[in-house]
Amino acid sequence: MDGKREQWGSRIGFILAAAGSAVGLGNIWKFPYLVGENGGAAFIVLYLICVILVGLPVVIAEILIGRTVQKNPVGSFRELSKGNPFWIAVGGLGVFTGFLILSYYNVIAGWSLGYVIESIKGSFHKLENPEAAGQLFESLSSKPQWTLMFHGLFMIMTVIIIYAGVTKGIERASKIMMPALLGLIIVLVIRGIMLKGAGDGVRYLLKADFSAITGKTFMLALGQAFFSLSLGMGALLTYGSYMSKKENIVYSAVNIVALDTFIAILAGFMIFPAVFAMGLEPAQGPSLIFNILPIVFNSIPGGYVFRIIFFILLSMAALTSTISLLEVITTFVVDEFHLKRKTVAIVLGGFVFLLGIPSAMSFCGWENFTIFGRTCFNFVDFISANIFLPLGGIFIALFVGWFWGIRKALPHLQQGAASFSGFLALLWSILIRFVAPILILLIFLSGLGII
Ligand code: TRP
Repeated sequence: MDGKREQWGSRIGFILAAAGSAVGLGNIWKFPYLVGENGGAAFIVLYLICVILVGLPVVIAEILIGRTVQKNPVGSFRELSKGNPFWIAVGGLGVFTGFLILSYYNVIAGWSLGYVIESIKGSFHKLENPEAAGQLFESLSSKPQWTLMFHGLFMIMTVIIIYAGVTKGIERASKIMMPALLGLIIVLVIRGIMLKGAGDGVRYLLKADFSAITGKTFMLALGQAFFSLSLGMGALLTYGSYMSKKENIVYSAVNIVALDTFIAILAGFMIFPAVFAMGLEPAQGPSLIFNILPIVFNSIPGGYVFRIIFFILLSMAALTSTISLLEVITTFVVDEFHLKRKTVAIVLGGFVFLLGIPSAMSFCGWENFTIFGRTCFNFVDFISANIFLPLGGIFIALFVGWFWGIRKALPHLQQGAASFSGFLALLWSILIRFVAPILILLIFLSGLGII
């Protein structure tokens, strides 16, 4: 089996694929609205602290597990723990979480694809204010045919790439899409900053008002760091399993984390100057991009084209994330049950589509069907993002820091990164053994509403 495992064609291929997983709706849709609701620059500062103290060390640990064993999450934990059922279950929880996240994430990804089509059709041309855009969003997402069709289409696009395999599918797609994404964002940032009145938006992003910061804000920043880096369910572990032992994990991890963070912040600069130039409120919540951006583009020369570009960009960012989620569960089934990758990709894609139907229907007919007081969409989002991811993250940190142990893990990390020793290695071991588990525990408890 080992000899047949695919590997990334190049170092940059791995970095772009992993960064593609990390960069997604979390950066472009969620990060800006969290910044808008939580005090602008002050939130960004907290976010950066979380990314550096928790994100980076756990990204390294997760890639390390995958690269060392070259297996799926379950197989990796099984091998490194010598068959300990608890750690096997931790791997299983990761795969299960992948199913859940993909099922509802794909619904939002489908909306962004739907918005590409609406933009091409010119549906936003005549809208004059965010309320009108909000109503349009409402009327589209409340049509089951519309939501389910794009949910299905997006899943088909995801399956096609996974079907093609690691180098021909994921790596090739990421190599084309990631630079295009970055280029398109920069175009939109420059366009936004040049608008009259955009300066207020720039100031909003640069002036930190720490009086707006509470314990809850800190938790939100930590949770967002987690979700945005694709941490805690074995996505990076799986991508790491295709990595050559000659590659430098630390170098790659730093690049992935830096790219993800850079694109989130750029997304802020893409959206807020335009929002302020339009005299709109920054604290719009989750509807920020869907309600405001279509309108913002109406005030921009060439807005018709820029709007299409933007939603293509959003769909591409979502696609490099959905493929990472489908890859985790596909590798799991292929490795563990020795089935054909192509068949597995199609069957799992169909299964995840079905699993996502209740989440999609939460916006179009099943609004009143709730589980523990939440719609299906909110429930699945809550248990996977706020409970299972932090739980998985703690276990990854504890596994590498204590159970497998730094002394055994470090030599594997130093393969391809010989200079990672001394102070840097000590720093990483402190972060992974103490700082990360404790901070993640805090997110977990706040997610449950205990603190
Ligand atoms: N990080 C992606 C985003 O920001 C979403 C994502 C992809 C993800 N794979 C993941 C989140 C695995 C958690 C776990 O949009």
